[in-house]
Amino acid sequence: MEHIANIVTADLDVMQVRKDFPILQRQVHGKPLVYFDNGATTQKPQVVIDAEARYYEEYNSNVHRGVHHLSQIATDAYEKARRIVAGYINAAHEHEVIFTKGTTESINLVATTMSRGYLKAGDSVIISAMEHHANIVPWQIACEVSGATLKVIPINERGELIMEAYEAMLDDTVKMVAVTYVSNTLGTVNPVEDIITLAHQRNIPVLIDAAQAIQHLSIDVQALKPEFLAFSSHKIYGPTGFGVLYGTTEWLNKLPPYQGGGEMIKTVTFAKTTYNELPHKFEAGTPHIAGAIGLGVALEYLQGTGLDKIQRWEKQLQEYALESLRTIDGIRFIGDAANRSGAISFLVHNIHPFDMGELLDQQGIAVRTGHHCTEPLMDFFKIPGTVRASLTFYNTMEEVDKLVAGVKRAASMLL
Ligand code: ALA
Repeated sequence: MEHIANIVTADLDVMQVRKDFPILQRQVHGKPLVYFDNGATTQKPQVVIDAEARYYEEYNSNVHRGVHHLSQIATDAYEKARRIVAGYINAAHEHEVIFTKGTTESINLVATTMSRGYLKAGDSVIISAMEHHANIVPWQIACEVSGATLKVIPINERGELIMEAYEAMLDDTVKMVAVTYVSNTLGTVNPVEDIITLAHQRNIPVLIDAAQAIQHLSIDVQALKPEFLAFSSHKIYGPTGFGVLYGTTEWLNKLPPYQGGGEMIKTVTFAKTTYNELPHKFEAGTPHIAGAIGLGVALEYLQGTGLDKIQRWEKQLQEYALESLRTIDGIRFIGDAANRSGAISFLVHNIHPFDMGELLDQQGIAVRTGHHCTEPLMDFFKIPGTVRASLTFYNTMEEVDKLVAGVKRAASMLL
């Protein structure tokens, strides 16, 4: 049966959108693919695949290094991508967009460079109990190197940050706050505006891990005012191995270089090297040029499709998914935040998430199972892992129905 909500209230033509993503037409184990692992990586529209191929077919060349024709086309395309990204997040300057390998490298860049002189013994860094390992381990290393202390904002049983505890932690020792915008495991949307405002009252810089937010929410860095914001291209329909670190000019100038190499220098002698200007200071070596071009095209594709329409549809879809999953006997949601987006984590009775994941896979349904690189969060909930369905705008209500039926079928086999 076709869902009335699909037709009446959604102004996004989901069926048309799905045609833009070639992989969504394929089958898995003889069944149409139902892809609910968008939190791990999103699928790519044909325009992104074509743009990457066109770079290699027509103007493959290094950037910022050659006067020859192809190098200039490649450089223009690479810098155009930076312009698109800057516009997408409303950065005040293009040089505040640093291209990296992804969120993980972006956070490592900030944590590592902060450990080289900025963080000192006696200082502290605040993260939260719901961070992905990529926003835990780099800070642990930075603290080990510098002698600073890591502090963790606790969460409640619903999977929400306890803001009073955060406020109480903000003393004179705190030199950095690094938190996720949206939890990759719980789907919790954190009150990042408040987190930033409270930190700024004490002149503490803030890094926002936007890996799970950038694809679902509109982010305006000049309105939000984080000092740093990190995200990955592959989670917003662009290529893997590529990402962004946004940083304010002030902070990017203040921090020392991350990696040494070509491109990040102005002059090199054995006696002394001087460093290049932003953004090149943080882009040592030949970058992932096709990645940048692909990300730019992905963002243009989203803008062309309509961010408002996409967000409205995702909200409806998520409400429908939560409502439908709730009908499953023995289901327990891990994370039940009032404000949520993206991921829906659950367990059914005492069924191990891997067993559930395998039986869903046999029905062509892709979900992620395990600890989702958030082991401290699993310890908090005293569970080995979850089944995680992460939805995005090319998913449909019919697919949600298949998930619910699939979970019921799997449960009947496993119990
Ligand atoms: N961090 C990604 C996820 O949550 C890989 O699946």
